[in-house]
Amino acid sequence: MTLFHHKPRKFTMIVGSIMGKGCMKVGVLLPETATSARWDGVDRPALQADIPALLPGATVDYANAQGNADTQQTQAQAALSKGDCILVIAPSDSIKAAAIVAAAKAKSVPVISYDRLIYSNDLNYYVSFDNTKVGNLQGTYVAQHYQSYVSANGTKNTVMINGAMTDNNALLFSKGAHAALDPLYTSGALKNVYEKFTPDWNNATAQTEMQAALTANQNKVAIAYVANDGMANNVIAALKAVQLNGKVLVTGQDATVAGIHNILKGDQAMTVYKAIPNEAMATAQLVAALSKGTDTSTLTNGVTTTVPITNGAAIPSVLEIPVAVDKTNIQSTVIKDGFVTAAAVCAGLPSGTDGVCP
Ligand code: BGC
Repeated sequence: MTLFHHKPRKFTMIVGSIMGKGCMKVGVLLPETATSARWDGVDRPALQADIPALLPGATVDYANAQGNADTQQTQAQAALSKGDCILVIAPSDSIKAAAIVAAAKAKSVPVISYDRLIYSNDLNYYVSFDNTKVGNLQGTYVAQHYQSYVSANGTKNTVMINGAMTDNNALLFSKGAHAALDPLYTSGALKNVYEKFTPDWNNATAQTEMQAALTANQNKVAIAYVANDGMANNVIAALKAVQLNGKVLVTGQDATVAGIHNILKGDQAMTVYKAIPNEAMATAQLVAALSKGTDTSTLTNGVTTTVPITNGAAIPSVLEIPVAVDKTNIQSTVIKDGFVTAAAVCAGLPSGTDGVCP
């Protein structure tokens, strides 16, 4: 009896551990391009370069869903039909993408959830940043700098423009921001007058939201907590229309060229720098290890992320560390790392701006 029970179990274990072994065709599915310059500008080229660099001979099959979860589903099916044997997916929709993981599992294709968590217990790995920390850096920045903005604007009114509810990250960013801001709302130091999750992280919608918040509050706003640089750029446009750009504290995320430019211009206070090249490299390392059949525990170091569903599994994870950036540390972070160039972020700005511009 013991022997009989032992054998099938061992077999299952071996099958599980060889998923992806020998694989040379990697499907990379990214969610969209319009919500942030990062996806097409940084993630795509980094993944396309790193995967074959660490796994010589490997090909990367790339598709972008342009914000449509159904398109992503179709692209994933196509990738599996073509024989892609490891999938790297940043989901357009964290919940809907679970169907892709199920389809992959049926073909013994391992899935790495990239940047955004997919709500599936069958995920093999998750590579991202500490996203609650991202939101907390944004909220903490507001908590440390709000006073002069409240005095100058004569109001405690705070607006919160979050990302898309279908993106698990947006929920974490908001959670982290609230952890820093809620004590200020409770004490009455700040007043949360308008808060929205922005469908699809649509940048233009963020502008409409900001306009609505300004109108509803007779243009009395001191703080605009905005979840990323793309939306912040449009929020700044709404502020500009009522001559409040540079007067309202605006947050962001991604350290995009436009975001850093807006900081140097004085229209945005901060952004969160996430070293995406490290995220892509960690993903490529996992892909290479899966294909070579080598140990991945030294890559994930025991870190796990629990899928936020009933009986959610603990997914082995690599979580990189985000950094808050404002005009005081642009030089020592994003410029020093070569994430952006001074020439690009300074376009049109006076030489010497914040000690950054040539
Ligand atoms: C990413 C952010 C990005 C946002 C919109 C999030 O999941 O973590 O970096 O700005 O999506 O694309």
